Amino acid sequence: MTQSVGKLLLFGATGDLAQRMLLPSLYGLHADGLLPAGLTITGTARSDHDDAGYRAFAKKALDEFLPADRKDESALGTFLDRLSYQPVDATRQDGFPALAEKVGDVSGGLAIFLSTAPFLFEPTIKGLESVGLAGDTVRIGLEKPLGHDLASSREINDAVAYAFPEDRTFRIDHYLGKETVQNILALRFGNSLFEPVWNARGIDHVQITIAETVGLEDRAGYYETAGALRDMVQNHMLQLLALVAMEPPARFDGTAIRDEKVKILRSLRRITPAEAPHLTVTGQYGAGAVDGKIVKGYDEELGKDSNVETFVAIKAHVDNWRWQGVPFYLRTGKRLPQRHSEIAIQFKGVPHSIFADRGGLLQPNTLVIRLQPDEYVRLLVMAKQPGLDRDGIRLREVPLNLSLDTEFAGTRRRIAYERLLLDLIEGDPTLFVRRDEVEAQWQWIDAIRAGWEANDIKPKPYPSGSWGPSAGIALTERDGVSWTE
Ligand code: BG6
Repeated sequence: MTQSVGKLLLFGATGDLAQRMLLPSLYGLHADGLLPAGLTITGTARSDHDDAGYRAFAKKALDEFLPADRKDESALGTFLDRLSYQPVDATRQDGFPALAEKVGDVSGGLAIFLSTAPFLFEPTIKGLESVGLAGDTVRIGLEKPLGHDLASSREINDAVAYAFPEDRTFRIDHYLGKETVQNILALRFGNSLFEPVWNARGIDHVQITIAETVGLEDRAGYYETAGALRDMVQNHMLQLLALVAMEPPARFDGTAIRDEKVKILRSLRRITPAEAPHLTVTGQYGAGAVDGKIVKGYDEELGKDSNVETFVAIKAHVDNWRWQGVPFYLRTGKRLPQRHSEIAIQFKGVPHSIFADRGGLLQPNTLVIRLQPDEYVRLLVMAKQPGLDRDGIRLREVPLNLSLDTEFAGTRRRIAYERLLLDLIEGDPTLFVRRDEVEAQWQWIDAIRAGWEANDIKPKPYPSGSWGPSAGIALTERDGVSWTE
């Protein structure tokens, strides 16, 4: 089913995600002429707006969240014309007939985007189904959180599957919409250079870091049910790991790529309760300073004591032939010193150094794929320092640098949701997460949580603006590995 729909229905249309990401993304697609000509967008949420009220709401959100160079009054006007609104309390079935009437005929295709609290998923699906908004021409996009463990994610997936078969279900992991994340595939499978060494013979270890400077951000209700492991590792980090580790798929399509990813997710070595204290580290930020500003600790922001982790570091392994003995170090946290997400692939050193007795020191090569804030791919290689070498040869690590910001300077960087919303509208499932992937992810995560509970592991405090608890650093240092910073 790769055919554009004529209508879009947005649940959670007044929420934070809609204001910051979805409306700006849809506007961006509209302004570039990428939305199907007659596509209408119906927003729905509990708040009471009429069409005009919602357009005013959307305009305010766009004023606030669109970058100045993207604002174009005439495009804004024609974009707002696409919008309409119908209030629905999804916990009650009686609002759905009016919603169906508002949306109208869906024979030309409807894409639904569900960005609501998970407890609303089931009644929403039932409501949609009961008024004919779940038929063959309708596909559904689901925003996280899709559960808090394997059992609850199965419940949600079952509730969705009651009305929507897997090929019409699009689970969102917004990291897959990021340009540099897709670039992992281009780099690995569009070049012959890397693949021969992309395995345990060539690679010493892999590091994946997602460091954030933000804290709780008014999301206490959600974050207290999640914590860093569920919020970041279960989804984004494991997807990155799968893209780095997967076997070459036969084709660039949703089935081939997701088949290979799920094999990796199922090959993750389960961390036992006995190993959890050694292979994982959790932390929670205390007061400190980030970006030159004094910030409160997590508990103080929350207004009560909590054992929810805002930092996690894990030493993971993929148990298959390609990756035997190669650690994958994962680290993510809030209130760290800088916002930076990157993957570092550290290759093995040379088998024998001809420079050793001439004073030359060698560093093993590292491939750094930087996702944000800047986007680049950098290969660190050894080069000779210019000179006559009277005191021995000097070598230095220097980067072979592919800056995507410079190389593709004329190409506008899009919000990840622009790509994902367009793929949802056009029905391309490649960058969405399949049910078997989600379940394999939860299985691995649940084992870690069970290990934390069995050992009564509580997050270690770390000052805001630091790189997390010192145990996070020790996790790699005891293997002779330093985190890239
Ligand atoms: C979301 C998490 O999925 O990703 C947030 O819920 C996190 O806690 C965000 O801040 C990070 O996304 P990005 O695109 O800013 O790296």
